[in-house]
Amino acid sequence: MQDRGRKGTDPSSRVKTPPPETNRPDHSGAPFSRRGFAKATLLTAGGLAVAGASGPLWAAEAAPRRIRTAVIGCGSVSNQYLPVLKRCPFVEVVSVCDIRPERARKQAEAYGVPNDYPHIEALLAGAPFEFLIDLTDMQAHEAVNRRALQAGKHVWSEKPIANSLAAGQDLLRMARRQKLRLWGAPITVQSPQFAFMARKIASGELGRLAAAHAFYGHEGPDWSSFFYEKGGGSLPDLAVYNLTSLTGLLGPVRRVTAMLSIVTPDRAIHEKGTIRVTEEDNAMLLLDHGRGLISHVQSGFNYFNPHGHDGSGEKRHTIQITGTRGYLGLVGYDWAPQGVEWATPDQPALVRESTDPGGYLWQQGAALAAECLATGKELLATPEHALHVLEIITAARAASATGRTIPLKSTFAWPLPV
Ligand SMILES: NC(=O)c1ccc[n+]([C@@H]2O[C@H](COP(=O)([O-])OP(=O)(O)OC[C@H]3O[C@@H](n4cnc5c(N)ncnc54)[C@H](O)[C@@H]3O)[C@@H](O)[C@H]2O)c1
Repeated sequence: MQDRGRKGTDPSSRVKTPPPETNRPDHSGAPFSRRGFAKATLLTAGGLAVAGASGPLWAAEAAPRRIRTAVIGCGSVSNQYLPVLKRCPFVEVVSVCDIRPERARKQAEAYGVPNDYPHIEALLAGAPFEFLIDLTDMQAHEAVNRRALQAGKHVWSEKPIANSLAAGQDLLRMARRQKLRLWGAPITVQSPQFAFMARKIASGELGRLAAAHAFYGHEGPDWSSFFYEKGGGSLPDLAVYNLTSLTGLLGPVRRVTAMLSIVTPDRAIHEKGTIRVTEEDNAMLLLDHGRGLISHVQSGFNYFNPHGHDGSGEKRHTIQITGTRGYLGLVGYDWAPQGVEWATPDQPALVRESTDPGGYLWQQGAALAAECLATGKELLATPEHALHVLEIITAARAASATGRTIPLKSTFAWPLPV
C-alpha cells in the first residue's frame, strides 16, 4: 500500500457558519483542540511524501528525545513500518523480534537494528526498551499486548488490539493502572481528508445527515493463512478502516446488523498450499448512529481490484455521505485518500478539495504514538475508538449468525477535535 496525493486547497478554508436544524456533531464541548498538533505533525511529516524514501520524515529540530522501541512481527507490514520508524526523530529502534527468527535477523540487517530475538520473552529479557510495536498475526495481538503491558511497555498494536471488547477493555485498564499507553491501528482519522470531511459535516452545510456508504476490498492476501482463520477475517483486516472512518465522522454506533459469507472456501497460501477458509471473506454491515443516521459498510477478500494493495490507483468515492442539503465523497481509500468532493444546492457540480496528502501515511501510526510519548502531544486515534470498532465487528458476526440486530455497549469521545 502506498499513500499518494496531490497539492490542493487548505482543508479549513471552506468551513462556513452552521445553519440551524441539522443533526451535525457539536464540537463546542471538546475540552481542547488537537488540530494544531495534528496539522503541525502531518505537515512536517510531509517531507516523506515529497522527498521519498531517503527524505526527512519530521523536522529535525522537533526531537526532544528518542523512545527506545522494539518491533515484534517481522512479516509483510514491517516493511511498511520500519522505514517510517527509522526516519522518525522520536524513535530509536533497538530490537526486532519474530518467532521465525530468520525474519527478525533479515529485518535487523536491512534496517540497521542492533538486536533481534526469536520470541517475546527473549525480547523482554534483552536490550531495554519502553515501547513495543505489535505487527504479529491478528490472533496473536491480545496475548502479545498483554505480555508487553505486564512488562511495563507502552504498546502500539496493529488491528485488532484484542480478540474481544472485554479483553481489549481489560488491556486498556491494565495500561492505565500502570500509566502506560495503548494504541491500535488504523489511523484513518489522522488524515487531512478526514479532517476536511469532519469539518464539512460540523459546518452544517450538508443539512440533516441521512445516510453513508463505504467500501474496501481486494482479492485477499496470499502470504499468510491467519487472515482466513478463526480470529482473522475480512472484517478486522479490511472493514476496520471504513468502520473507523465512518464512526469517526458520524459518531459511535448504537446497533448493528449484518450479513457475512464465505465466497471462496479454499485459498492458496504461500508455503502452506491450500487452506480452508473459516472466517467471513465477504461482509455487509448496517450501522445505526442515532439521530436517524444509518450507514452501510461493504468489505471483503473477493473484490476484483486492478490496483491490488496499492491504493493510489483507486479514484472512486469509497466513502459517500448524504444529507438533506449536500453530499460528500472521499476520493480513493480512506487509508490512502486523494481528496474530497462535495456538492450542495448552491454548488451542485462536484467540487474537489483537500487534495494535499499533508504528510499522512497509513503506516505512520506507531511513529506518531512515539511522538506522543516523547512530547505529550495527543493523537486523534484513541484506544476507546479502536475498541468500539472491535465491538462493531464482533456484533456484526453475532448479527449475521442469529439474524438479529445487536445493540452495542461501548462508545468513545466524539466528535473528534480535528
Ligand atoms: N501486510 C499489510 O499490508 C498490512 C497492512 C496493514 C495492516 N496489516 C496488519 O499487520 C498485521 C501483520 O500482518 P502481515 O501482513 O505483516 O502478516 P505476516 O504474516 O506477513 O507477518 C506476521 C509476522 O508475525 C510473526 N509472529 C506471529 N506471531 C508471533 C509472536 N507471537 N511473536 C513474534 N512474532 C510473531 C510471524 O512469524 C510473521 O512473521 C496484521 O494484523 C495485519 O492485519 C498488514
